[in-house]
Amino acid sequence: MSLTDPLTVGVGGTTRLYGIMGYPIAHSLSPLMQTFAFRAQHLDSIYVPFLVEPTQLASAVAGALALGVCGFNVTIPHKETIMAHLDEVSAAARTIGAVNTVQVRDGKTIGYNTDGEGFLQPLRTRQWPCSTAITCILGAGGAARAVAMALLEAGCPVLHLANRTLTRAERLAAALQHAFPQAQIAVVPWADVAPRARQSDLIVNATSVGLHDPSGALLPATCFRPGQIVYDLVYRPLYTPLLQAARQAGAIVIPGLDMLIGQGAAAFQIWTGRSFPIEAVRHLLQPFFTEAS
Ligand SMILES: NC(=O)c1ccc[n+]([C@@H]2O[C@H](COP(=O)([O-])OP(=O)(O)OC[C@H]3O[C@@H](n4cnc5c(N)ncnc54)[C@H](OP(=O)(O)O)[C@@H]3O)[C@@H](O)[C@H]2O)c1
Repeated sequence: MSLTDPLTVGVGGTTRLYGIMGYPIAHSLSPLMQTFAFRAQHLDSIYVPFLVEPTQLASAVAGALALGVCGFNVTIPHKETIMAHLDEVSAAARTIGAVNTVQVRDGKTIGYNTDGEGFLQPLRTRQWPCSTAITCILGAGGAARAVAMALLEAGCPVLHLANRTLTRAERLAAALQHAFPQAQIAVVPWADVAPRARQSDLIVNATSVGLHDPSGALLPATCFRPGQIVYDLVYRPLYTPLLQAARQAGAIVIPGLDMLIGQGAAAFQIWTGRSFPIEAVRHLLQPFFTEAS
């Protein structure tokens, strides 16, 4: 039996403990992905879900430290509020305004945001030429902010930002333009997004439209064309109506599951310094998704 055998984990008191704090938390696939990755890398570590009510977040962080937890992920509704309870927050996470990964080092908690890295990972795999691409992002919430920053940091020269609430897109565009003065960042009214989307080499849905909803198509089919990438951050259903329409029009589609795996891979790298078995994890998660669920 190896140390990573479920029957021997915990024996000898050397097992490293990781987890995820959220409320609710039962739906999270992170325990499955991370436990699989620890085993694949023969690491004597476990990863468990922690159901943490918003009023208990400070106690949960203190408790995790007291118990010797080595690192944890943070999900809804704690991604913003966790920052006040950490010793350090990375510059990127501070700019994004959200933390999804915490590392405990020398008794101190350090917060990171791996959403941007997770978003870029599938584009890098496809050797997508970010530095010459025109991108259109739909949405202006936390995920849109992380995606926009990652794209601009990767050298994306032109960004169109569209959001149902225009002022929110304007605020995001102003903050991004300040941080990336060389980039061309334009706010597009929600009603006018179709022609800008069609011009774009990459369309990203960073709104929650499509989540658990097989009916609503966010953009008309005329927005899509061959040679374009359409990337939906929503991962339930696996292929949202947006991705289905884009695929039919000949575009390359990337489902939100790829980003979910990518952000988990980046967290695993922070905690362990090891690489994450991305393809094996995708295979592991496939049964939890069907084309339309
Ligand atoms: N795949 C992954 O790993 C991953 C990671 C992070 C997030 N996500 C997904 O990304 C999505 C956004 O997350 P978030 O954290 O950015 O959420 P958020 O901060 O709450 O932002 C939600 C965004 O969706 C827009 N929106 C909501 N309902 C809409 C509607 N009916 N029509 C048009 N726009 C609408 C909002 O526009 P207003 O400003 O007008 O309200 C806002 O831009 C969620 O579905 C989340 O699950 C996926």
